[in-house]
Amino acid sequence: MIRKTFLLLFSGYLLVPGLSFAAARWYSDDQVTRGAGLYASHCAECHKTNAEGTENWRKKDSNGKYPPPPINGTAHAWHHSIKVLANTIRDGGIKLGGVMPAFKDKIDARQTLDVIAFFQSKWDDKVYSAWLERNPFPQQEKVSAGKNVSDKKTITDPRIVNLQKILPGSAISTPEKTPVNGLYQVRIGGKYVYVTENGEYALIGNLLDLKNGINLTRQAQVRENIPLLRSFPENDSVIFRAEGKEKAAISIFSDTSCPYCKKFHKEVPHLQKAGVSVRYIPFPRGGNKGPGYKEMLSVWCSEDRNKAMNIAMGVSKGKLENGSCGADKVLRAGFVLGKKVGVQGTPTSYLPDGSLISGYVPAQKIIERVTQKK
Ligand code: HEC
Repeated sequence: MIRKTFLLLFSGYLLVPGLSFAAARWYSDDQVTRGAGLYASHCAECHKTNAEGTENWRKKDSNGKYPPPPINGTAHAWHHSIKVLANTIRDGGIKLGGVMPAFKDKIDARQTLDVIAFFQSKWDDKVYSAWLERNPFPQQEKVSAGKNVSDKKTITDPRIVNLQKILPGSAISTPEKTPVNGLYQVRIGGKYVYVTENGEYALIGNLLDLKNGINLTRQAQVRENIPLLRSFPENDSVIFRAEGKEKAAISIFSDTSCPYCKKFHKEVPHLQKAGVSVRYIPFPRGGNKGPGYKEMLSVWCSEDRNKAMNIAMGVSKGKLENGSCGADKVLRAGFVLGKKVGVQGTPTSYLPDGSLISGYVPAQKIIERVTQKK
């Protein structure tokens, strides 16, 4: 029950499976290059130079063990998420009765990802797309492995260990002191939880400094959200600029298929007239199989993104070109950022002070909030 409540509060999105289309790879060429070197020195002796594995990998050898399988996409490796692949590399197969050694003392988490990038580069598009369908946002997966990666905090700190039990797989920040003795603040996907020193109790809510009238939780959120939001490149956003002198700018995580995003978009001209710039950050709420994904890809691939956005949001007529310009990366980055700053649904707006508005709010309300001095 507790776990359910937590999951409701913190799990963001159901990734809905659907159409499939060729997609960009999650890794960079540099990663593949680095991975190739690591692969050659650690893996090639068994999985062979191009990850093609042993010919008769389906048959046990004379010791009753399976020989090294192909990991070039022709066997089962593509059934696994990055996390599972990374765990296999970290822990090996010996514990499970296999023969693959553990690499946890030899390569760290980053190198593990590099090696995965290398052998995934051997997967053809069809296999990769099938894999991506099961793992729509590979970059989001947390990989823990290796000697340089400190698992210590995660393993021994009871404040984190107990939270992790009910929220497996979540990134939980290092606990920070609060003014309340014995109460620590941790950040989980843009939200805050307070835990006791022994990790036995946790509470969700706003911590208020009554003496000074400050909402400490909000203050913390704001402090962390602003730099994160700034880190998203302007070039990757679609900006509807303020008319005349800009008084304020807001960032909105949006999906062109969401009705309330469309409703809000109709009011964007009011904001512009009032001196407020509106910056759209893509948040494909259904992952890369979601209803708005293709459309957003077209918007982000258009030469005139504002025009395309107006079409996608239904305020002007026209046809959207099919887009495949590598903007997958941008949509993914928007999604990943959204999860970090606590987006739970679309639209979610961030005001210049870093505070968040969930869902549709009339433009007029926003204008009042951002253009009037308190
Ligand atoms: C000593 C031989 C050996 C070495 C070295 C080795 N592997 Fe393996 N690997 C195996 C065998 C054998 C299996 C099948 C499971 C088992 O027996 O442990 C396997 C399984 C795997 C799997 C799971 C495949 C699937 O279909 O589920 C992955 C992924 C993998 N290895 C990656 C690597 C990577 C990456 C490296 C180098 C960092 C590596 N292996 C090094 C022998 C090896």
